[in-house]
Amino acid sequence: MLTLNELFNNIKIDIKNANKIKELEQIRIKYLGKKSIFNTYMRSIKDCSFQEKKKYSMIINEIKKDIFYKIDEKNKILNKVLLNKRIKAEKIDISLPGRRTEYGVLHPITHTINDIKIFFSKLGFQAINSPEIEDEYHNFDALNIPKNHPARDSHDTFWFDNNRLLRTQTSSMQIRIMKKEKPPMRFIFPGKVYRNDYDITHTPMFHQIEGLIVDRNINFSNLKWMIYNFLYNFFGKNISIKFRPSYFPFTVLSAEVDIINDHSEALEILGCGMVHPKVLKNVNIDSTLYSACAFGIGIERLAMIRYGISDLRSFFENDIKFLKQFKYN
Ligand code: DAH
Repeated sequence: MLTLNELFNNIKIDIKNANKIKELEQIRIKYLGKKSIFNTYMRSIKDCSFQEKKKYSMIINEIKKDIFYKIDEKNKILNKVLLNKRIKAEKIDISLPGRRTEYGVLHPITHTINDIKIFFSKLGFQAINSPEIEDEYHNFDALNIPKNHPARDSHDTFWFDNNRLLRTQTSSMQIRIMKKEKPPMRFIFPGKVYRNDYDITHTPMFHQIEGLIVDRNINFSNLKWMIYNFLYNFFGKNISIKFRPSYFPFTVLSAEVDIINDHSEALEILGCGMVHPKVLKNVNIDSTLYSACAFGIGIERLAMIRYGISDLRSFFENDIKFLKQFKYN
């Protein structure tokens, strides 16, 4: 059996020669583990005196401590070597082009609504959000569209039960706001409306902005001036606009407005008119004192013309290639 000194020297050489972390770990297990060779040394002195045993085990413990530190030191060195190797191997190539950050943009419909809101806010209109679930009274009856009125057919309504429905037009907000506020008032109501229809110019959900002015002496010229200004502001002065007489149950003097495109085709974009005295009566506004004008703009139609989109459905298909085209200033 080697003397403790010889053994210690051998271990030191082993540690020195180890050049892998795994080897070092094996040395640690061999000399400091449970089945360490030092146990044999301890057993060899089992017949010695207590004092001698004590002295001997202290020496062994010192040696073990030393081995522990030597292994630890060597471990650090080997780790450093390994790290340096990795740093060299995994060098970052700073000449590679970086990954691009993708920026999202507003959906064209949101952007269009924002634009319209800004325009009308300058004319003193306040924008109000409104419920999409309506009742028959606000969506139809109070707007002078009683049951069996043919105008109801064209709305292809989604009903929840025999009273509640998904609003088919933002005009329902005319009733709600006129009941709540006292004239004079100017409001716009942007929002989603629903009709059971689906083709290249119709989707079951689309957006409208309703506008309403109630004041003394409001007349059709005021309305016309405002619509012209709005459209010139939105599309630019060289747009061709056509006011066409029309019919809505809740307006008297009713018009629809078309934009004439480069192929001389008329694209309907809004309905408007002077609010019907019957409607004013329904909301307890004295039509001998006040008059009101209103308009309902189809947002998708405006956006389609502005961005040259031919299929309305593309707004809602979430096709990233379609949506990525839009960049606003
Ligand atoms: N609510 C009508 C529709 O959805 C549009 C409309 C027409 C709104 C005339 C108005 C209006 O405020 O005066 O077809």
